[in-house]
Amino acid sequence: MANNTGRPAVFVSRKVFPEVIARLSEHFDVEMNDTDSVLSPDQLAQRLQGKVGVLTTGSERVDAALLAANPQLRIVANIAVGFNNFDMAAINAAGVLATNTPDVLTETTADFGFALLMATARRVTESEHFLRAGQWNKWSLDMFAGAEVHGSTLGILGMGRIGQAIARRGAHGFGMKVIYHNRSKLAPELEAECKASYVDKATLLKTADHVMLVLPYSPEAHHTIGAAEIAQMKPTATLVNIARGGIVDDAALALALRNRVIAAAGLDVFEGEPKVHPDLLTVPNVVLTPHIASATMGTRMAMAMLAADNVIAFLTTGHAVTPLNAAAVAKA
Ligand code: DGY
Repeated sequence: MANNTGRPAVFVSRKVFPEVIARLSEHFDVEMNDTDSVLSPDQLAQRLQGKVGVLTTGSERVDAALLAANPQLRIVANIAVGFNNFDMAAINAAGVLATNTPDVLTETTADFGFALLMATARRVTESEHFLRAGQWNKWSLDMFAGAEVHGSTLGILGMGRIGQAIARRGAHGFGMKVIYHNRSKLAPELEAECKASYVDKATLLKTADHVMLVLPYSPEAHHTIGAAEIAQMKPTATLVNIARGGIVDDAALALALRNRVIAAAGLDVFEGEPKVHPDLLTVPNVVLTPHIASATMGTRMAMAMLAADNVIAFLTTGHAVTPLNAAAVAKA
């Protein structure tokens, strides 16, 4: 659908870099929400009137109601690799193309997974708070003694691209024994390259010194880690979640941390974020960050540009760069 300039119109649902708007503007009339506030479903439906493409982030839900209100929409391009904000059944039924931003964030996100693991195991933020509070008046041998990272066992739940990049860091950089659990086993060459061995979930939980969650969110993955799973872990273990809020039962984790069922946790994602379960804010043995695993300027720019390129490629050639449902759209 073209507007009165004769060019198709697209909408950008969040403030993005000016370079991204400039690139989109070479092809389309671009309208945007030039703020960091999330539009309500009604506001988004309204702003999408007459638009054939939209750039979303993980905070905007694309569902049957939004699509019914905007039957002219042809592509929804998420600026994220995760796409649990998309109702894929509704998107497929509407014959709309969905895209995400894989690959461009893999190494950056794996770096952050490791940063959070190191900060958690070595009690970086807890000890910094102690120092800033003026409590450091003597040194002692066991002061903030944490868990070993090098040479320990790293258990990765979810072994996609980011999980593999974390495995490489652990195995090759830190001499860790890497075990993983995933819906499917990696090809033998990939397992060898990552130096990772497949185990069942129970073995991973009870064997790993550090458990890293990198699996995508789906209703089936809801509370993959709850009280029962935490109880299977070593009392000295750490848990790191860079996957999605809802994969961990945050209330159960807060209680387990308070009762020292496990030693510590590092969380970048939360159930109902940007709200954080209040009990997590009061336990000392958790490192909390505001969903920043992919947040370097270079990577965030690459993600937004890839989303823009998906819209441009699809609307000008019929083929997106990183489509999620090309087959469903071809059939529709
Ligand atoms: C992703 O790309 O899925 C990150 O979590 C940012 O939303």
